Amino acid sequence: MRRAASALLLTALAAMAADTRRSGFDDLSPALQALQRDDTQNPGQLWVQEGQALWSRAPAQGRACVACHATDTLPPIAASFPRFDPAAARPLTLSASIDRCRVRHQHAAVQGPDGAEVLAHAAYLGHLARGRPLQPDTHRALDAWQARGETLYRQRLGQLDLACLHCHDQRAGLRLGGARIPQGHPTGYPAYRLEWQALGSLQRRLRNCVTGVRAEAWAPQADEWLALEVYLARRAAGMALEVPAVRP
Ligand code: HEC
Ligand code: HEC
Repeated sequence: MRRAASALLLTALAAMAADTRRSGFDDLSPALQALQRDDTQNPGQLWVQEGQALWSRAPAQGRACVACHATDTLPPIAASFPRFDPAAARPLTLSASIDRCRVRHQHAAVQGPDGAEVLAHAAYLGHLARGRPLQPDTHRALDAWQARGETLYRQRLGQLDLACLHCHDQRAGLRLGGARIPQGHPTGYPAYRLEWQALGSLQRRLRNCVTGVRAEAWAPQADEWLALEVYLARRAAGMALEVPAVRP
């Protein structure tokens, strides 16, 4: 019995020691790390505040978010996406579920992950779940999406003929131009990027990587983004959420 328990402990310790995953935060300069850490300085906090205000604001038609989601029941959910949506039989991102409630209950139009209100809601909900381990849905129906995402991750793209894997697994930590190549974990999104002078979604970040290798980006609604998001979230499972992150 004792032997089994200590074997279990050793296995757990080995798994911890073998976890070499690093968040993009770890590869930031000390100045940017300080900016991300300090809520009074982090520019992403402007979106968090806007999201907090929107949460309880009654729309022209329909109901405020807070009317249905008591503020203390919804907050920790941001770390549990993408989820499997049984009705659509597809993965559902946090942004998409925000949009769905805006459309259903506030008579709003779909904005997509980089719409102003969706970004603000996602920043607010992400911030409330900050520090929680990423726990994307383990529903088996998402396994095929994960596999498809992994295939994309390993597939060479664009004129540079590079796969995500070549940069984020094989060259992580090295410099590319001015930037240090991170491992490519989605823990900080939506994130404030200095280059954008704005908060942006994970999809926007991925689009930058795809066009960065001179490939044509998929259409905004394309399944490829969703498959990559499922794969990346599962690859980062257990890492702490750090919304809103600051990136160069
Ligand atoms: C040529 C190298 C290269 C390729 C190929 C590449 N990326 Fe990136 N990626 C980068 C660099 C460099 C950054 C960080 C840029 C910065 O923050 O200034 C980045 C950032 C990211 C981030 C954000 C990480 C964070 O902590 O903010 C994710 C996620 C990501 N990439 C995913 C992908 C995916 C998925 C693919 C394939 C579709 C891909 N990348 C292809 C170089 C690459
Ligand atoms: C009229 C009630 C109502 C309003 C108003 C409402 N929601 Fe929802 N919301 C729901 C219901 C019901 C679900 C579960 C939907 C489902 O699973 O099909 C849900 C699900 C969600 C989810 C997915 C998380 C989960 O636990 O399922 C998010 C995120 C969310 N809502 C955000 C919002 C935001 C942001 C607003 C304001 C813009 C909002 N909701 C307004 C009723 C509402």
